[in-house]
Amino acid sequence: MPLLQTPRPVRVWDAPTRLFHWALALLVAFSFISAKQAWMEWHFLSGKAVLTLVLFRILWGVLGSDSARFARFLASPAAALRHLRHLGRREPDREPGHNAAGGWMVLGLLLLLAVQVSTGLFANDDGINEGPYAGWAGKDLSDRITVWHIRNFNLIALAVLLHVLAIAAYRVLKGHNLAAAMITGRKALPPSVAAPRMVSSWRALLLLAVSVAAAGWIAAGF
Ligand code: HEM
Repeated sequence: MPLLQTPRPVRVWDAPTRLFHWALALLVAFSFISAKQAWMEWHFLSGKAVLTLVLFRILWGVLGSDSARFARFLASPAAALRHLRHLGRREPDREPGHNAAGGWMVLGLLLLLAVQVSTGLFANDDGINEGPYAGWAGKDLSDRITVWHIRNFNLIALAVLLHVLAIAAYRVLKGHNLAAAMITGRKALPPSVAAPRMVSSWRALLLLAVSVAAAGWIAAGF
């Protein structure tokens, strides 16, 4: 490889995006376990934390670092399909963030999680536990929303499976280690690819505080 093309380490994911990702993965798993074990106090807390993270990620998608911004990574569906057609091609990683297909995966996961926390607010367990808006919805509607809360979790499980399989496919077919980048924040990219602009973690803390307050307000039933 000519010297000018030699890849150099580039910071592609800031700490807030990485912390968001791994906290979300743990909380989604914990929400499932706590529901199965009927640890409802913990399940509600975990749901509130997921709501906080989803609100934070929406704010970070508008005001965060370049690689976290929706406007940067949401490409057209045609661009996503073009990208997927080259999935089997072994070539150097040139993405300073989500690729055209990955952007849609992010949006899909966030939407599914938003539906999950919203339906949870109206759900009930036919016992003493219910979301803050279940009484307002009435038993019949709350029961129907509870069914969607459970069905939507199955969709999340499927989407996460696809997500992890896609990461594995990039490793095997293309030789790109995306998971390592989500841990270290860095990727080896050719010099022709510009490093994304990162914003201060203080801004992330401020947006997190806003998200905690908003989630607390929503979960308290306004
Ligand atoms: C419940 C489990 C999981 C959920 C809900 C989840 C969700 C997400 C979301 C929302 C993003 C977008 C991150 C952002 O831009 O803020 C993402 C990206 C990513 N996730 Fe996960 N994830 C899960 C598990 C995993 C696991 C187990 C791995 C490791 C194999 C993984 C590896 C990645 C990687 C590498 C990216 C960045 C992909 C890229 O380069 O475009 N995720 N995930």
